[in-house]
Amino acid sequence: MGDIVKLGRFEKISREVLISTSKMLKDAKTELFHDIHGKVLEVGAGIGVNVFFLNRPEITHWTAIEPDRKLAQECRINLSEMGERATVFEGYLHELDEPANSFDCIILTTLLCSVPKPDEIIRDVHRLLKSGGKLYVIEHIGDKFGIRAGMQIIAKFPWKIVTGCNCRNDPIPALSQEGFWEGINGDVEMDPAPLRVKKFSIMLELLKPFVMTKLTKAGNK
Ligand SMILES: C[S@@+](CC[C@H](N)C(=O)[O-])C[C@H]1O[C@@H](n2cnc3c(N)ncnc32)[C@H](O)[C@@H]1O
Repeated sequence: MGDIVKLGRFEKISREVLISTSKMLKDAKTELFHDIHGKVLEVGAGIGVNVFFLNRPEITHWTAIEPDRKLAQECRINLSEMGERATVFEGYLHELDEPANSFDCIILTTLLCSVPKPDEIIRDVHRLLKSGGKLYVIEHIGDKFGIRAGMQIIAKFPWKIVTGCNCRNDPIPALSQEGFWEGINGDVEMDPAPLRVKKFSIMLELLKPFVMTKLTKAGNK
């Protein structure tokens, strides 16, 4: 990734976390994203780390939404290798001017940890998906017990200030809205995401474990 966008100290830390997290999630993304196709939306694309997994002919168009101006600028550079098949929309999801039932696939990677109202994001995502369309989600989730859970509780507020992310994130309530997904009654189940860990990093340790799921929009909505 080219580092040509001028960043402040906290922004550099956040960028480093985004890149390290994506490297750690390489196997998870390869597995989860293997059947993404058609018209694709990514919400909160950051610097565009998912281009390594989505620059495939099966994807006819990819709209990447990113509200942060500097991240959107870097995202545009990284997605430029896809030419006209990729567009970066600089703004928030609720500002995107697209009709309901527009996208075949929508992806969220480590997004719900960084938004104030995750249930609204999932409502918008659900509206924008075609009936039978797929939502691909990879998130980190607050650990339940043990030393890591304790570290997350202590670090929660300073970490939020530095990176904007909630290390005690819980994506399941927002995803589990009634009647949204085929075959789901009650809570959405998420699988552990396989992680590639080359060396110990306290920052990445704070975010574990990671979970992932693929959901299909129910046909009657
Ligand atoms: C933790 S970063 C993850 C970036 C990227 N998905 C990745 O995996 O590297 C979350 C991103 O979501 C963006 N974001 C926050 N609220 C958003 C919203 N309402 N609509 C779209 N993007 C949003 C932030 O600007 C940030 O870049």
